[in-house]
Amino acid sequence: MNNFEFYNPVKVIFGKDTITKIKDEIPKDKKVLMLYGGGSIKKNGVYEQVTSALSEHTYIEFGGIQPNPQYDTLMEAVELAKKESVDFLLAVGGGSVVDGTKFISAAIHHNDEPWKMISERQEIQGTTPLGAILTLPATGSEMNCFAVVSRGEDKLGFGNPVLFPKFSVLDPQVTFSLPEKQIGNGIVDAFVHVTEQYLTTSKNTPIQDHFAEGILKTLIQEGPKTIEVKGDYESRANLMWAATQALNGLIGSGVDHDWATHMIGHEFSALYGIDHARSLALILPSLLREQKEAKKFKLLQFAQNVWGINTGTTDEKIEQAINMTEGFFNSVGVPTKLKVYNLGEKEIEEVITSLNKHIPFKLGEHGDIDNDKIRTILKRAI
Ligand code: NZQ
Ligand code: ZN
Repeated sequence: MNNFEFYNPVKVIFGKDTITKIKDEIPKDKKVLMLYGGGSIKKNGVYEQVTSALSEHTYIEFGGIQPNPQYDTLMEAVELAKKESVDFLLAVGGGSVVDGTKFISAAIHHNDEPWKMISERQEIQGTTPLGAILTLPATGSEMNCFAVVSRGEDKLGFGNPVLFPKFSVLDPQVTFSLPEKQIGNGIVDAFVHVTEQYLTTSKNTPIQDHFAEGILKTLIQEGPKTIEVKGDYESRANLMWAATQALNGLIGSGVDHDWATHMIGHEFSALYGIDHARSLALILPSLLREQKEAKKFKLLQFAQNVWGINTGTTDEKIEQAINMTEGFFNSVGVPTKLKVYNLGEKEIEEVITSLNKHIPFKLGEHGDIDNDKIRTILKRAI
């Protein structure tokens, strides 16, 4: 096992009708800026629940944070927060709103151009505390300290322990209004988060591995129920908790990581507007096939422990596990082929050029995924 430090200070408030609890989590003397997206919270009753819970607080609001939150929009919120001397931020939405709020929290205090915190890794100079009310299980942003922000064709991430939310409220009932497409996205995003920490090098880490396998099996068992059985609270609750656990640092402690799928995927979102999870589904199955040898031990374990494949040669088991993974993504409505989006060889070259601009090193847990491999992976996904 690798050395590691595990730190996660986020208070998770989980369950039915829990939004009201924010009234006790945010000190009464704080001036709150409530942040949200394109308006889904005004259609599903979440807005009313939040404003009612804030009735004893002074608060203002800022809506319009886009999926793949855009820098210019976030900077408008920064200006508002400064002008109004806000001292607590409340994110109400999916990963984009939570990520955007983390960025705003640090940008308020940055004396240089805030984008440079991401593009040049400038040190964060201060933060305004933030809390979150999650409406879409997918990214894990509610319990981690990372954020991904888009600016034109640049989609970049940053992370720092000062960006952890103080609390996150997870009421699975608020996910009932999600379009089926977003549920499928959430299942796939969480699945890929686990595989990028689990399907790497064998490090004799049974706790991390079995926990990762438990999350994957939960997604496989409960994910489809969230789509098939409308209004089923239990499966929504299990999906929500699984997605949070997939990227809160626990399964990633002491193991090697391979974020190649995410790094390449971000380019597809930035260049062609493909939803985050949908970009990942285009890459992961093909990447696993290309990296079969390097990931052999863990892929075999994945085939046996997650998919229950016990017959055939090692190679056959691995191939079947990758096919079943691809089939699972498709079964929750997430395509795995570039042609579905009318993307082909020309776009593959554009993605590689843009990726080289953003990530000047080879990807993968062994640092062996170069341009040629990326080209092979993506051509296989056409
Ligand atoms: O904007 P509104 O109107 O709220 O609608 C949103 C949006 O259109 C809608 N939605 C959210 N909750 C809803 C709902 N609609 C109905 N009912 C609800 N309860 O869903 C749409 C997508 O929302 P978004 O927040 O963009 O989705 P997601 O949670 O998948 O977040 C994606 C962003 O997170 C980043 C991605 O790159 C992307 O920018 N990620 C953040 C990570 C992190 N912080 O650790 C890790 C991830 O790998 C990922 O990169
Ligand atoms: Zn993701």
